[in-house]
Amino acid sequence: MDIRNRKAEHVEAAKRMDVEYEISAGFEDVRFIHSSLPEMDLEEIDLRCSFLGKNLSAPLIVSGMTGGYPGAQKINLSLAEAAEKEGLAFGLGSQRAMLEKPELAQTYKVRKVAPSIPIIGNIGACQLKNYGVEKIRAMLEEVEADALAIHLNPLQEMVQQEGDKKFSGILEQIGLFVDELGLPIIAKETGAGISKEIALALKKAGVCTIDISGAGGTSWSKVEYLRGKARPTFEDWGNPTVECIAACSGIIEVIGSGGVRDGLDAAKCIALGASYAAAALPFIRAKDPLAEMRLWKEELKTAMLLSGCKNIDRLKKAKLVITGETAEALKLLGIETSSYAKR
Ligand SMILES: Cc1cc2nc3c(=O)[nH]c(=O)nc-3n(C[C@H](O)[C@H](O)[C@H](O)COP(=O)(O)O)c2cc1C
Repeated sequence: MDIRNRKAEHVEAAKRMDVEYEISAGFEDVRFIHSSLPEMDLEEIDLRCSFLGKNLSAPLIVSGMTGGYPGAQKINLSLAEAAEKEGLAFGLGSQRAMLEKPELAQTYKVRKVAPSIPIIGNIGACQLKNYGVEKIRAMLEEVEADALAIHLNPLQEMVQQEGDKKFSGILEQIGLFVDELGLPIIAKETGAGISKEIALALKKAGVCTIDISGAGGTSWSKVEYLRGKARPTFEDWGNPTVECIAACSGIIEVIGSGGVRDGLDAAKCIALGASYAAAALPFIRAKDPLAEMRLWKEELKTAMLLSGCKNIDRLKKAKLVITGETAEALKLLGIETSSYAKR
């Protein structure tokens, strides 16, 4: 199938079908300790932080989703414009299509509506070898990106009929790009999560940040099933988001994503150890992306006020109680959940 049709089908499925995991990302197992005496005013709460050398008004990122077919341009422009107005970072979808067909580059170009925010370029790990550093650097320059997200998507490739099934040598390629690209590299999952061992390997390869994209949000296996291209066998495969953040955040800078559905989930990501929270599905589905982004910031502020945290640094140290299946899984993985409650 032509890559452009596939991209359009993915967006349509995400917007209109039940494409989410049955298993949970784990946020319902995480709760803040409520403060009945916050001793601060709402207007004092400060969400500001920096990312990729630029200022953000809140630690929130619109995850990379699309580009590469005519309808994608409108989506990217509208999301990037809203992100610029709200001071959030913005990710592009896989840019492979513009490497194959240069005339599709315009569907990724959002800098004119988003002059000041960090823009993250995107390419699949399997494609690094095929295109090489020079071509990918030129691709990033064309869209004026601040960083490259290299997406790791073995689950999607395995369940996609036309998927690339060659996964050997990828870590070495990532290391080569770290050394030669000249832009920060984010290693990003696409919904099945990153384990502690993989985080350690990526750190060793020189990656600066990982985007967890854990299980519990959009399920690519389910998307392929709904497109009639796969059996549902692996629709719940992956490591839930909360588990991934707790497992990886002591190792490397983490973006918490995968099933993050509101500002409260975002606050939990940060308190669990992520530096930023990101989401895809809620923003592509939003009738009014700008209003949705504003709401997330308000919810993040509310969570901070109610847990007595005036700024993001304080939120990173907020006490959390972790229970249920997430606590059980973390215990089995040797991760001490009581440290979140006792700090
Ligand atoms: C329509 C759609 C297209 C996506 N395309 C890409 C992509 O091209 N590259 C990528 O790294 N991730 C892609 N993703 C994955 C998201 O960036 C994100 O990691 C994942 O959907 C989990 O977040 P969510 O549960 O908030 O949707 C896509 C997600 C959606 C919904």
